[in-house]
Amino acid sequence: MDAADVIWTRAGQDRVPVALVLGSGLSALGEAVEGEAISYLDLPGFPEAGVSGHAPTLTVGTLEGVRVAVMGGRAHYYEQGDAAVMRPAIATLRAIGVETLLLTNAAGSFRPEVGPGELMLIADHINFAGTNPLIGEATDARFVNMVDAYDPGLRAELKAAADAEQVPLAEGVYAWYSGPSFETPAEIRALRALGADAVGMSTVPEVILARFFGMRVAAISTITNMAAGLGSETISHEHTKAMAPVGAAKLERVLRRFLATRSRTA
Ligand code: HPA
Repeated sequence: MDAADVIWTRAGQDRVPVALVLGSGLSALGEAVEGEAISYLDLPGFPEAGVSGHAPTLTVGTLEGVRVAVMGGRAHYYEQGDAAVMRPAIATLRAIGVETLLLTNAAGSFRPEVGPGELMLIADHINFAGTNPLIGEATDARFVNMVDAYDPGLRAELKAAADAEQVPLAEGVYAWYSGPSFETPAEIRALRALGADAVGMSTVPEVILARFFGMRVAAISTITNMAAGLGSETISHEHTKAMAPVGAAKLERVLRRFLATRSRTA
């Protein structure tokens, strides 16, 4: 059985139009879904372990009246050096019907007015990691157009949802840094000069893969810290995990409103 078969067997065959990928410290939203929680260990091709060591779950069920699949954790390029590590999972989401992929992450901000606890809708990205998840793909489909990769229509829906919830939602450019070490202050100055507004170690490969598979994509960063050299706090993974839930509560409201609006207009 492939991963899609496992999902169909355990969670039913109804098409799943929307999927969410939850970033560091944001996994609570998975628990809000009424449905079947399937360990990644039972899903061939899904990443083996999360950042904190436990195999996360894919929850397939209903949230705000919309059938969703929620990935409770992702794998990162820095874990094994494989930029395509999320490809089987994203291919599986496509196979079960996902047309809209919403990605979330934790990120460091370059903008003082978008500080820890704030949300940033990603408008575009800079791939600063020097690799690409489609390296090795042999078909011409590898030449993916990345203009409007972050779907303008979805961004408008998310902004409307944030407005309705009175949650401030900044918008900016996300730079993908390979990690796992954090950036140097000089790298942050360079990225800022290049036009980035925030930096993180994920999401970009998934956006490229999702566009490759023909999905519409949007992504929201939860700002956990000012990027290296721009703030007074010491940047650490503990700090990221401690700060992510601050923004996560707002993120959950925005995502719930987004889904509820969809279920009413569908
Ligand atoms: N840099 C990279 N990744 C991050 C950061 C950061 O400052 N904060 C949260 N994830």
